[in-house]
Amino acid sequence: MLRWRTLWAATALCTVPLLWQAYQSACLGQSACSGSLGDASGPSFMVDAKPCNCSSCRVELTTAVWFKERYDSAICPLLTVHSAEMDPDVLRWWLSLQGSQGHASLHGIIQHIFDIFPSPTMGAPGHSHCRTCAVVGNSGRLKGSRHGQEIDSHHCVLRMNRAPTVGFEADVGMRTTHHFMYPESAVDLQPGTHLVLVPFKVLDLQWLISAFSTGQLRYTYRRVKEHIEADRSKVLIVSPAFLKYIHDKWTQHHGKYPSTGFIALLFALHSCDQLAAYGYGSDSTGTWHHYWEQNRNAGAFRKTGVHNATFEFALIKKLADEGKISFHD
Ligand SMILES: *[C@@H]1O[C@H](CO)[C@@H](O)[C@H](O)[C@H]1NC(C)=O
Ligand SMILES: *[C@@H]1O[C@H](CO)[C@@H](O)[C@H](O)[C@H]1NC(C)=O
Repeated sequence: MLRWRTLWAATALCTVPLLWQAYQSACLGQSACSGSLGDASGPSFMVDAKPCNCSSCRVELTTAVWFKERYDSAICPLLTVHSAEMDPDVLRWWLSLQGSQGHASLHGIIQHIFDIFPSPTMGAPGHSHCRTCAVVGNSGRLKGSRHGQEIDSHHCVLRMNRAPTVGFEADVGMRTTHHFMYPESAVDLQPGTHLVLVPFKVLDLQWLISAFSTGQLRYTYRRVKEHIEADRSKVLIVSPAFLKYIHDKWTQHHGKYPSTGFIALLFALHSCDQLAAYGYGSDSTGTWHHYWEQNRNAGAFRKTGVHNATFEFALIKKLADEGKISFHD
């Protein structure tokens, strides 16, 4: 057993550079919303790349009315320097989420962001891969699932918030290509992993700047990480317009705004050719807690009404029933 483990660890170590290369080519240089991203050296993201080069492209193969009524292929999941001018409806809604005060400086903040972080830009079209993604929620149902290897076999592996992998590899895998977070849920990342900021307020954008520079922003509605270890060239920011799209078309105003888990899943739905969801929903005992802890209060958000977990979970099951994603218990 021990021998096998050592062997596995050694193999894993040797495989890392290979996987790294594979995922770079798979996750980088993908198309943007109305064009595409080339150039693996530049900022990159995976967004709505067409044409899909899979034997079956779940999003494209659709006549289902339910799906068509919700899915908008034209929406851009990421904030770019060009989206600094926000639609007034989006802006009003977004500023209300966590009570952002004033926004006179917002335009300047976004411009500043793209002085520091590269803005996703357009490049060469198309991609020759069938891009498969695993989006990994933090549910306790992952515990004992042994899904790790299968999760790691996808081109892209998306995780969120505190999600640890060390010590949980057998169940959750060890690769992460995209890590979704907001200041209050931030963690340090491995080099090469995309930090995907999900901004719920103006302060979140300011935090991003601060966490990569002076570290002066230490408090939002609670204490936050002053500095973050992450690859600056790989920072991506989810667009407020994309959040509102999810709120309007998918969760349909259930809850105040969608959860990070659901946002990551929709981001993947818009960015991947094939999508597998792991770690969503309560565990087998009906408890909502994270796979790394036994926290009785982890489901507290269900009562506050910020997110409607029941409604979101029903949407995920429906997406699976419609054949748009595969769902793994
Ligand atoms: C699809 O993939 C095949 C082989 O991987 C490649 O030869 C072909 O050019 C790709 N097609 C597109 C449209 O990218
Ligand atoms: C979530 O949505 C369902 C379906 O509309 C509703 O019955 C339930 O009361 C909502 N839960 C919360 C916490 O708002």
